[in-house]
Amino acid sequence: MKRAITPGTFDPITEGHLDVISRAAQLMDEVVVAVAASHKKHPLFSLEERTALVRKACAHIPNVTVQPFDGLLVDFAQEIDAHVVVKGLRAITDFEYEFQMAALNQQLDYELETVFIMSPPQYMYLSSSIVREIASLSGDVAQFVPPCVLEALQEKFATN
Ligand code: COA
Repeated sequence: MKRAITPGTFDPITEGHLDVISRAAQLMDEVVVAVAASHKKHPLFSLEERTALVRKACAHIPNVTVQPFDGLLVDFAQEIDAHVVVKGLRAITDFEYEFQMAALNQQLDYELETVFIMSPPQYMYLSSSIVREIASLSGDVAQFVPPCVLEALQEKFATN
């Protein structure tokens, strides 16, 4: 039984994240999407909101579950008995940062393997902060996010 973990802040989840999650779900028996508290990033959406949006966006993928976590990724991976971390690589600029995280996680837990999935060209330059910025300026982000996120962004910026 290969259980993988796909961690992130998901503030909010985008089509780029969904692409990585669905491809990980094809490769693994089970995928746990781990939504990090990421306090330092001061997320726009609360941990509860981000987790609920990821759950809705992934509801159609049968072997995917979603769980929030606060703490070290290696500890959470051990807690849920996952031995593989799957992350998306968009452009070459992601590499150094991802390489550092993968190396440190391996140092903290030698049994935890990190696997990278390349983003397809249409998602190479997509990020949650770009989506937040466009939405905050009333731009159309429908092509970048699932419908539940589009609705949540519209609500968030209508009340702010
Ligand atoms: N498609 C679209 N966007 C993507 C993407 C993809 N496939 N992969 C990453 N991104 C974007 C995100 O949207 C986000 O964009 P933004 O910063 O513009 O908003 C950015 O890349 C960073 O994503 P984030 O989800 O915050 O991930 P991260 O790579 O910074 O790592 C954790 C987040 C949760 C994995 C990491 O902080 C962690 O492990 N935290 C737990 C504490 C810990 O163990 N720390 C030690 C780590 S060695």
